[in-house]
Amino acid sequence: MVNFSYYGHAAFLLDDGKYKLLFDPFLTGNPKATIKSGDVVCDYVLVSHAHGDHIGDADHIVMNNNAAVIAIPEILDVCGENVKQIPMNIGGSVNLPFGKVRMVFAQHSSGVTGGIACGFVVYIGGLVIYYAGDTALFSDMKLIGQKDNLDYAILPIGDNYTMGLEDAALAAQLLNARHVIPVHYDTWPIIEQDVEQYKKLTESTSRARVHIVKPGETMELTLNDAQA
Ligand code: NI
Ligand code: MN
Repeated sequence: MVNFSYYGHAAFLLDDGKYKLLFDPFLTGNPKATIKSGDVVCDYVLVSHAHGDHIGDADHIVMNNNAAVIAIPEILDVCGENVKQIPMNIGGSVNLPFGKVRMVFAQHSSGVTGGIACGFVVYIGGLVIYYAGDTALFSDMKLIGQKDNLDYAILPIGDNYTMGLEDAALAAQLLNARHVIPVHYDTWPIIEQDVEQYKKLTESTSRARVHIVKPGETMELTLNDAQA
């Protein structure tokens, strides 16, 4: 069992009951944030890329919690020197006490010179969870789904900076994910989306069930397809 807590935009926490993994902790300045950076408790911080709406409060949170940052070297270089670092790069995996993290490709700019944006496939609590980060639709999503039998895919749907509704629906199909949680929408007017429309479109064109989680909500991730 793993709990997914959504903090708004692309910030969320996965909690297996023992280990807490925080993703893309943009909280300060995030109009949808439901938690202050000083109140976050975590063991690991995973940063997909260095745009401000993703790296966000990573430094502060990592220092506060004595947590470890998981990211590509170019992003670790902009994090504080005295923090625990787990450097990775695209295509690599690392085994950690909770399970495994595989770093995968994303189609997006990185926000830091020489770096590239990434996504993560996380094995935790008996589940396989893909977080796409910021990305365009790309055909190698099919390869990710082929290699990692995805229970959950956490996908951006806001358009403008990332995939929009139609591309994110096709992404669910390529990934062959059982469940999808949309993120990275409605934070600002430029990425406002009709998430119910995304749910309808995705559920009618792929096997995925779409779970709409609002900022501040926690959802228990399970393998039970019957759960709405
Ligand atoms: Ni970005
Ligand atoms: Mn973004």
